[in-house]
Amino acid sequence: MATSSFFRKPLVINGNVLYDSRIQPGPMEGVMNPLYCAAMNELGWVESWITPFLRLTVGVPKQVKLLQFLDRYIQKSLPIVVQLMGTDAELMGETAYEIYKLHDSKKINIRGFDINCGCPSKVVLKNGSGGTLLKNPALIASMVKSIKKHLPSVPVEVKIRTGFDDPSESKTIIPTICDAGADLLHVHFRTVSESYRKIPDGLERLQQAVELAGDVPVFGSGDIYTPDDAQKMVDETNCAGVLAARGLLKDPFLIQRVLNPSQKNEDKRKEFFRTLQKAALELPKLPGKGGFMEQAACLFGVPDPFFKKLTKLSVEEIVALDV
Ligand SMILES: Cc1cc2nc3c(=O)[nH]c(=O)nc-3n(C[C@H](O)[C@H](O)[C@H](O)COP(=O)(O)O)c2cc1C
Repeated sequence: MATSSFFRKPLVINGNVLYDSRIQPGPMEGVMNPLYCAAMNELGWVESWITPFLRLTVGVPKQVKLLQFLDRYIQKSLPIVVQLMGTDAELMGETAYEIYKLHDSKKINIRGFDINCGCPSKVVLKNGSGGTLLKNPALIASMVKSIKKHLPSVPVEVKIRTGFDDPSESKTIIPTICDAGADLLHVHFRTVSESYRKIPDGLERLQQAVELAGDVPVFGSGDIYTPDDAQKMVDETNCAGVLAARGLLKDPFLIQRVLNPSQKNEDKRKEFFRTLQKAALELPKLPGKGGFMEQAACLFGVPDPFFKKLTKLSVEEIVALDV
């Protein structure tokens, strides 16, 4: 997720590191790679983080769990927006309240909360959370109100897609959420059913979302891979900012290119890899090889010879590799 001078909000990053099940099945899902966070922090390219979703099930998570979850985003004391996912509006408000206590007691700079109403993962949908919430805009509205009730002066953002099955659903969804008091919307232009399929009219849908939201700022999301994509989205939809997820994982310099359009469009992936190596050595414990492989898969792609070379090395050898 990236912003520049023509965006109203400071730079933020959203989305986890691309997860490639061929490399490391199982335990990485839903977790943003600590190496990636450390490298972005190290480079100073992030002005604030939106965390990936914290899924709420039966009760307010214990403080120790919350701190574990937030750990990688708070290392540089950057402002963070904590994304929550769930189905129980009261629990969401209570959890936001508990998390916000860390703002004072641990000096964690919590800029606001975001409600995930867009995740298309089958497991999430089965639980009735994420994208399923788009079928029940009144429930989303009660989540916004619940957080506002517990924390009246803290911004509440909502991440949505344009509908569950049909983008025309946004005509009900967006005004309902805005009327409930949401301060900002992040809109991924696909519907949940469209998952990540190509669609021809994403920007038109976003433009409509911006109109429906009225005074509530909308950040657009979907297929931002280049600075031109970002500029086009802003120009054609009048959105207040853009988010890049997959594009940023493939090209961590994307933000810099958006901020400085005059910068040469060189391939700097190896440079970023060197930052990952440096960041790894500065972490309290050397991370597992999986983190490097995950990053290398995003940056270079699995068929790339550099990726193949890494598969044969230990993590100690990867860190010491002259790239
Ligand atoms: C691996 C991955 C993890 C993501 N995790 C989250 C998340 O935790 N919360 C969220 O709101 N969106 C999440 N997203 C969605 C992105 O923020 C974004 O809306 C979507 O990927 C479309 O943008 P893109 O085309 O730039 O990738 C994730 C996307 C990817 C690819």
